[in-house]
Amino acid sequence: MSDRLFIFDTTLRDGEQVPGCQLNTVEKIQVARSLESLGVDVIEAGFPVSSPGDFNSVIEISKAVTWPTICALTRAVEKDIQVAAEALQYAKRKRIHTGIGTSDSHIRYKFNSTREEILERAIACVKYAKRFVEDVEFYAEDAGRTENEYLARVVEAVIKAGATVINIPDTTGYCLPSEYGEKIRYLMENVDGIDKAIISTHCHNDLGMATANTVAGVLNGARQVEVTINGIGERAGNTSLEEVAMIFKCHKELGINTNINTQKIYPVSRMVSSLMNMPVQPNKAIVGRNAFAHSSGIHQDGVLKNVQTYEIIDPHDVGIDDNSIVLTARSGRAALKSRLNALGIELNQEKLDKIYQDFLKLADKKKDINDDDILLLAGADRTDNHRIKLDYLQVTSGVGVRSVASLGLNIAGENFEDSASGNGPVDAAIKALKKIINRKMTLKEFTIQAISKGSDDVGKVHMQVEYDGHVYYGFGANTDIVAASVEAYIDCINKFRI
Ligand code: KIV
Ligand code: ZN
Repeated sequence: MSDRLFIFDTTLRDGEQVPGCQLNTVEKIQVARSLESLGVDVIEAGFPVSSPGDFNSVIEISKAVTWPTICALTRAVEKDIQVAAEALQYAKRKRIHTGIGTSDSHIRYKFNSTREEILERAIACVKYAKRFVEDVEFYAEDAGRTENEYLARVVEAVIKAGATVINIPDTTGYCLPSEYGEKIRYLMENVDGIDKAIISTHCHNDLGMATANTVAGVLNGARQVEVTINGIGERAGNTSLEEVAMIFKCHKELGINTNINTQKIYPVSRMVSSLMNMPVQPNKAIVGRNAFAHSSGIHQDGVLKNVQTYEIIDPHDVGIDDNSIVLTARSGRAALKSRLNALGIELNQEKLDKIYQDFLKLADKKKDINDDDILLLAGADRTDNHRIKLDYLQVTSGVGVRSVASLGLNIAGENFEDSASGNGPVDAAIKALKKIINRKMTLKEFTIQAISKGSDDVGKVHMQVEYDGHVYYGFGANTDIVAASVEAYIDCINKFRI
């Protein structure tokens, strides 16, 4: 006997909430289409009342995607629900995801309310959402820390009010797997009418237990899991889609099936990482760079004799293709287009021509162009409309000399230049930049992503700059790491609310 497990992807809502991970509507459509081809059942496309951008993205994703249900998040507030219903108007299958905090700490400190009042509000929001759509999911925020008896009362009441799916979030990532599993079992055994709804898991990873908790939930009766690509999400993130999909694929004895086409996992993971500028840790299960790399002599010997000695997953099953074509300066447009398509990116001729020109420039600087480079090129025009652009950068540095940088900027069509010396080439370049942009800005975080494939590789820089009480996130990518650093700083400045 096998049971179908529904995959609810919240990369574009819980994942996109992460500072620095924001996507524009075009990028969100790209991710949504990839999620559709991956086979997810539900795409949580946004929180429409939160901003016009989110509202518009839900509209456009609804138009762009056919099979998955499109879901929009709301609070237990009538206005939120009206706006979500409006944003979902073009969805072929639609769901409103509404709810309220049910733990004593949420009831007391967040709502200054009582359990009885919250119960009434929960019923009311589901009934209100039912006026607009048939499929209503209710979330009991902080269910992980909600007393089971009260949680069961809330769940029973919202099912009676018409909720079709009940989300039991471990919002703070606090539960132990045994505790979370028992919570789901308790609801399965103590809620009248539980067979009329699907129970959903939604686990955060604050203690590194999100996937274990999700699996415990499924083993105890949950039949929907809320996940994100690469496990991105608030704080330490959410349960990752790839881990859950591969756990149930590897452990067939559990009799749980998903609709995920696992061979698309790796390309989608790369796309999300690249568009969101969010590196995947090298040892991340399933999609990390080292997930299938055997470095110790004993392991290599075993794998060469028989791969099953140390590998429980065939890399091809998750779409890692050892023979993927490496592009070079001699590759034509057709090869580039085919690689872009394999990575889930469809482009019109004009955009392809532009990327091809950028590709040739990059291929002049580095020998082999890999998938990461291609994804970067595909997202490069994100800076086209920027007010401030780097015009040129010249740096002199070395051992025993102080570094000096000269830098030119184009600001809204006008050219500016200055130079500075510093404690190294990056310091000198940023000081020169700060002489032109004369504002009180503080560099809070500066991460250079390791160059992994050769000294000519593209270096990626992630930055956080504080200005006027806000922290801004910036990204730069260049074969010259000093230029990548300056680009990241400029990316932050372009986002300043002035
Ligand atoms: O973590 C959480 O509780 C959530 C809800 C809004 C579903 O993301
Ligand atoms: Zn969440």
